[in-house]
Amino acid sequence: MGSPSLGISLVSGKIDKMNNDLVEQIQSIKKERNAIILAHSYQRDEVQDIADFVGDSLGLSREAAKTEAEVIVFAGVHFMAETAAILNPEKTVLIPDVEAGCSLADTIKAADVQSWKDDNPNGLVVAYVNTSAEVKALADVCVTSANAVAVVSSLDQDRPIFFVPDMFLGAHVERATGRKMNLWLGECHVHAGIGEREINSTLDKHENAEFMIHPECSCGSACLYLKPDAKIMSTEGMVKYSQTSQASEFVVATEVGILHRLQKFSPTKKFIPVKESAVCEYMKLITLEKILNSLVNNQFKIEIPPQVANKARRSLESMIAVG
Ligand code: 13P
Ligand code: SF4
Repeated sequence: MGSPSLGISLVSGKIDKMNNDLVEQIQSIKKERNAIILAHSYQRDEVQDIADFVGDSLGLSREAAKTEAEVIVFAGVHFMAETAAILNPEKTVLIPDVEAGCSLADTIKAADVQSWKDDNPNGLVVAYVNTSAEVKALADVCVTSANAVAVVSSLDQDRPIFFVPDMFLGAHVERATGRKMNLWLGECHVHAGIGEREINSTLDKHENAEFMIHPECSCGSACLYLKPDAKIMSTEGMVKYSQTSQASEFVVATEVGILHRLQKFSPTKKFIPVKESAVCEYMKLITLEKILNSLVNNQFKIEIPPQVANKARRSLESMIAVG
């Protein structure tokens, strides 16, 4: 009988070989179909490694808007693939698993937005990119976590704002801009679960670490007051900030898929997740096998009715324009 460690290395050797075979097949069909793979930084490590571009929602939207590829395979969740399809009506946009949804986007429907608009004819609707195409079509402008503060700061002071759907991002924007808004009380189940208790206990153990937090976290907005040194950022903001900071240790409050990218760009630095179990199961539905299937069988095509896509495109284009 072999030793347990030999057994583990044989299994991981087999997995590496399987992954290498899949990667080769994906690369070859990608070339044949003039396709590009866009991946969010919460994707599985091996999916991030095969992607042509990895980034946050804003970077991915920008990349989708400018690509010359004919086919976009979106390794992310449904609203992200929809965004790519809205920005590229003439291209084929595929999501490898249709079940890859978003608990936050699911909290609000177009009818909820329409009802606020009916009551506030002079109001402005600001939709976080984590929303359906139908909600985006009713919005005046979309935002991501990377530019929400800048976008809201630029809006007409005299008009009421309905900010949807993330209440924690909304509260962060209110505190950062001093602007009161009507907030939809939606949340992401992964980030809502990262609270002050977990953050304090991790920071207590790593006193010299810098602290980076995604504004969707349940205490993201409170951090503006409680932890004035906290860096409240989008996922890509974290990657860039940690590269240039002098610190060698970082406590990270967001979905743990980001650790792969943080470590890749700063290999000598240490990244400590506030919560190891902060895993988005929707993001992890995308695998190499499903990406290959997607390219081979042209599955699953994102289709949005043109009247919805045309309206949603206006609010997305305003979002892309703001840094
Ligand atoms: P980013 O835009 O920061 O990548 O966030 C997207 C997201 O879904 C966060 O949960
Ligand atoms: Fe949606 Fe939360 Fe997953 Fe981001 S982490 S895709 S907000 S469920």
